[in-house]
Amino acid sequence: MSAISLNMRKKYAPLVPGFYHIPFPDKYRGMFEHSEPGTVEEYLAPLKEMFNKYVPADEVACIMIETIQGDGGLIEPVDGYFEALQALCRENGILLAVDDIQQGLGRTGTWSSVEHYNIEPDLISYGKSLAGGLPMSAVVGREEIMNTLDAPAHLFTTGANPVSCEAALATLQMIEDDDLLTASTEKGAYVRQRMANWEAQYDFIGDIRGRGLSIGIDIVSDRQAKTRDNDAALKICNYAFEHGVIIIAVAGNVLRFQPPLVITYEQLDTALDVLEEAFEKLTNGELDNYEISGQGW
Ligand SMILES: Cc1ncc(COP(=O)(O)O)c(C=O)c1O
Repeated sequence: MSAISLNMRKKYAPLVPGFYHIPFPDKYRGMFEHSEPGTVEEYLAPLKEMFNKYVPADEVACIMIETIQGDGGLIEPVDGYFEALQALCRENGILLAVDDIQQGLGRTGTWSSVEHYNIEPDLISYGKSLAGGLPMSAVVGREEIMNTLDAPAHLFTTGANPVSCEAALATLQMIEDDDLLTASTEKGAYVRQRMANWEAQYDFIGDIRGRGLSIGIDIVSDRQAKTRDNDAALKICNYAFEHGVIIIAVAGNVLRFQPPLVITYEQLDTALDVLEEAFEKLTNGELDNYEISGQGW
């Protein structure tokens, strides 16, 4: 299903047919690298065109979205898009599903990132931190949907692995006991406060966005045109790595600031200090010939 990179599709064919992709309703850049974001109607237009010409809406099972598109560049949606999309789904009997694998479980400060929007999806998927690093994923859905599969339906040898299940229960308990949802919100606010002057200080910072501890820093070569500066982003990542801070770039030029929710304020300060050091060096031309291979997607 992913459309993030050719490398995730090359040499895998044949893929499951019947998936169509539409542009994410980017709040910062417009479709196809346009410098201005589109309106809700403009972003819905490719979907409506599809429904009018080559994909009958009543034959569509499901529309799947990420609330904040993670590896796509930590992209936030324009206000009102998800609500309009949900209305379109309801009108046409289409299920709305959210992939919350990256943004869920406290990453944005809430159990589900869906809580930031006025929508009620039919299905939500979870993964990643669910079992604190052990393999575990989950699909949460309305009962009548989940019960449409007769047992044994989705059956895997390693499904419901007892060690992973214990790890998941312990992780969920820890999020609750240590109030990691509040921690994510408060630490995110602290980080954003330290980042508050960056846009004024550094010309190459086009945008800083996100929620809780899910933050993207968009590195550009021209702030007006919002031109992605992949090389600069990679230089920053490599400088950070060599100074003890692991950060990667997604979508080529977006620094992905997503530390563990249990990170300490001292560790956050260290990471932010190193990033500021990298920004200073980039500004002074000290990273002109810096290594740019081996980071990011
Ligand atoms: C939003 C999102 N969905 C799905 C995945 C992939 O999950 P898995 O590795 O469990 O297939 C990722 C991994 O990066 C992701 O960020």
